[in-house]
Amino acid sequence: MDPNASGLAMRLAEAGQSHLLQFWKELSPEEQAELTLDLQGMDFQEINGFFKKAMETSGSSKQEKMDSRMEPVPREVLGSVTRDTASLKDWEIAGLHCISQSKVAALLLAGGQGTRLGVSYPKGMYDVGLPSHKTLFQIQAERILKLQQLAEQKHKIKCCIPWYIMTSGRTMESTKDYFSQHNYFGLDKNNIIFFQQGMLPAMDYQGKIILENKGKLSMAPDGNGGLYRALGNQGIIDDMERRGIENIHVYCVDNILVKVADPSFIGFCVKKGAECGAKVVEKTNPTEAVGVVCKVDGRYQVVEYSEITLATAEKRSADGRLMFNAGNVANHFFSFSFLRDVVQKYEPKLQHHVAQKKIPYVDAKGQLIKPNKPNGIKMEKFVFDIFQFAKTFVVYEVLREDEFSPLKNADSQDAKDTPTTARHALMSLHHRWVLNAGAHFIDENGRHVPAIPSLKDGTDLPIKCEISPLVSYGGEGLEELVKGREFHPTLMIDGTGVHELVKNGV
Ligand code: UTP
Repeated sequence: MDPNASGLAMRLAEAGQSHLLQFWKELSPEEQAELTLDLQGMDFQEINGFFKKAMETSGSSKQEKMDSRMEPVPREVLGSVTRDTASLKDWEIAGLHCISQSKVAALLLAGGQGTRLGVSYPKGMYDVGLPSHKTLFQIQAERILKLQQLAEQKHKIKCCIPWYIMTSGRTMESTKDYFSQHNYFGLDKNNIIFFQQGMLPAMDYQGKIILENKGKLSMAPDGNGGLYRALGNQGIIDDMERRGIENIHVYCVDNILVKVADPSFIGFCVKKGAECGAKVVEKTNPTEAVGVVCKVDGRYQVVEYSEITLATAEKRSADGRLMFNAGNVANHFFSFSFLRDVVQKYEPKLQHHVAQKKIPYVDAKGQLIKPNKPNGIKMEKFVFDIFQFAKTFVVYEVLREDEFSPLKNADSQDAKDTPTTARHALMSLHHRWVLNAGAHFIDENGRHVPAIPSLKDGTDLPIKCEISPLVSYGGEGLEELVKGREFHPTLMIDGTGVHELVKNGV
């Protein structure tokens, strides 16, 4: 349909975005139809408003101001797996009880593009090269399955942990197909709910939407904080209400160690009466580029490393730890009522953050240009932007080596957070579980392998050991399988038993 006749050209002109039709006459009828469809679904005034607001707040020099307004997390809202060991069991029992009542949901943020990892499929489908070759999605699915079983066994009642999976326009179909091809990894498909976050166009610094080719806008997901809008407009909050969900665990797809719906974390937050909770790991190096959870003007938020001065990042408390050490790992608890308030009341108050990017575009002559320096912005909201609205907020500190190893980058020398580091983190954790259960490993010469393997060529090579989540969620239940035994790596423990792969020539 002719954009002039349909009023589309007029709408674009009013919003200063007429250039989006500059190649109209060169497009095939199919391309014209697709572009029309994309454009008709967009609210340009709203997008221009997002751009204006986001640009106004970005770039203002916040550094000094932020430093003087920050306070560390007070001890009374902090739970710690190392400092509060006496309470851990109680928290776990409370969390498992909530799970057994089917009041706990897991919510996975999987709408990212995984640009740094550089694969064309959703990151959850990535195989980091474990002996089992399980993907991130499968590992998480099996943890949910196991946790349901643990709650059922303890409380003698059937329960389920609904799993909400947020995807984006780019990852929805492949994610759904993948789950269906794998029979939902043993979970009930009715309890896995896929939904889609919004997308926003990339814009140049003048607020013009960028074309990635003559008939297509450059679009990107609106950040993991796009969650809140999607929860409302995709009917997810209503679905949670129908199911009687009271507590929600929100987490990222890329953390191979994630304790999905962690009962201890849930129990801690519930017992504290929290509306919102953040799991953190201790930041030990002042210059580590991780956001820290803290109070700013009396309200909780995540402050990025780039927003504070080195002097503040280096400040230490009396116990010698960094004062701002609550490293955010994007792993959160929400009470249902708080989440509903966020969706219904607070979401529109959130502003987009600006990410400057190198965005491929077509120039006025129709040539595709791949810029070598940032030429525009993507606008994103962050999942933690809503901390400020919580009336009761708690922080739960866990050990990094037990719970946090994100997959961000492809393998290469010196790269951080790669498939190799993720694989090693999981195998080291499972090695420790086996040791704790009273077994040990022996090397090819029959010697005991020390509990902490030596460093070879500066690379920590873990014992090859993998335990299926279907056997153990968090290290429990292994004694009866391994106590007093010695193993040659590679050790695999799964639903069919305990296997030494190399010894058996596998
Ligand atoms: P990251 O910010 O690390 O982004 O996402 P990413 O997509 O995984 O990787 P890059 O930056 O493109 O290389 C942290 C978490 O937030 C989710 C991701 O799927 C991941 O679980 N996310 C990110 C969304 O769900 N939506 C988004 O728009 C962005």
